[in-house]
Amino acid sequence: MPSTKAYRAALLHCLADPRDVGIEQAHEYFEDGLLVVEDGKVARIGHAAELLPTLAAGTEIVEYPDALITPGFVDTHIHYPQVGVIGSYGAQLLDWLETYTFPNEGRFSDIAHAREQAELFLGELLRNGTTTALVFGTVHKQSVDTFFEACEKRNLRMIAGKVLMDRNAPDFLTDTAESGYADSRELIERWHGKGRLHYAVTPRFAPTSTPEQLTLAGKLFTEFPDLYMHTHISENKQEVEWVKELFPERKGYLDVYDHHGLIGPRSVFAHGVHLCDDECQRLGETGSAVSFCPTSNLFLGSGLFDLAKVEGFGVRVGLGTDVGGGTSFSQLASLNEAYKVLQLQGQKLDAFKALYLATLGGARALYLDDRIGNLQPGKDADFVVLDYKATPLIDYRLSQATTLQEKLFALMILGDDRAVKETFAAGVSVHRKGC
Ligand code: GUN
Ligand code: ZN
Repeated sequence: MPSTKAYRAALLHCLADPRDVGIEQAHEYFEDGLLVVEDGKVARIGHAAELLPTLAAGTEIVEYPDALITPGFVDTHIHYPQVGVIGSYGAQLLDWLETYTFPNEGRFSDIAHAREQAELFLGELLRNGTTTALVFGTVHKQSVDTFFEACEKRNLRMIAGKVLMDRNAPDFLTDTAESGYADSRELIERWHGKGRLHYAVTPRFAPTSTPEQLTLAGKLFTEFPDLYMHTHISENKQEVEWVKELFPERKGYLDVYDHHGLIGPRSVFAHGVHLCDDECQRLGETGSAVSFCPTSNLFLGSGLFDLAKVEGFGVRVGLGTDVGGGTSFSQLASLNEAYKVLQLQGQKLDAFKALYLATLGGARALYLDDRIGNLQPGKDADFVVLDYKATPLIDYRLSQATTLQEKLFALMILGDDRAVKETFAAGVSVHRKGC
């Protein structure tokens, strides 16, 4: 007997990028909607009045008045070992890494610490409505084991990898080209494709890997089907200059990765604030993706991401929190900051494009849009229930809104974890506000 359950609320999900098809064709909205979930997957979605009579007698129906169901949020770039450094004062990227981040990541040699942090991290993600994320571990392979164990327990769709770093980092955080390759292989064999888990080959960024390590990372990337490659690129001007010094024989930052076979579908590059046109062109033509991390880019003073330019080259773009350079786990908070980053460049971010970036756009960036990102039948039932009455201010402001777009926009500007009433992964409640 299939297990069927139905959820009644306003329902909204994206069908395409509004940039490609216009706002109206890009989403589907049911003011009084019904989401029918069967065995962890979306079975049907539509108007409650049409679907309710079709349900088998006795089907459980959960009603959410004053709420909006959307797909679970997708975070295309985050670090689970950096919960302890969010909100660290006064540094830009390279100092920030040395002063705060590397010492904190060193603590993950202790497996009990890693386990505790994985629980804390996943709890935060789910409290914020994020059901899929592309996640950095540390250089320690057990950091990834503990993370995947915690994900497996909750049946989450997650992607993660062990950091590869064999130079320009403290001794307690470095591997070697060979040990990094061997440890990654072991983790891939143990976790990649297990349940809803996927592995990402994770060179931290070009400055912390030797050419030998990047070569072996590129080899790994081709040795297993559907593997991810996850790294940073062109986040900070000093960093870009450093890469030029370290790799003088390469055309530029992206060319370092390109030369080592690290670009293509399922390659995700965090930041890309200072990419030049040729690099955007290459990312677009190879099917690579960029993660736009607005709270981090502002907090670390990295710069303003040019969404119109990068998308103009056909690059897949998802939204990332980049915790702990980023300052919030909430994709609503990220959208709030994304709006401001774009405002400062004369670009606009309407509510539907924003929802797209946080859901289906992220799923497309990760080549997971056949499984997640919206609520079409057959997709994983990963969804969030957003509370129109989350705070007195949200309640009041939304009551003044006359259109869905206005309501959604105000929710994205005012909302954060408080706006998430409940989060579901594969049809199972994994977070309920107040519980
Ligand atoms: N570049 C290399 N490592 C990191 C990191 O941990 N965070 C950010 N934001 N950028 C990086
Ligand atoms: Zn990062």
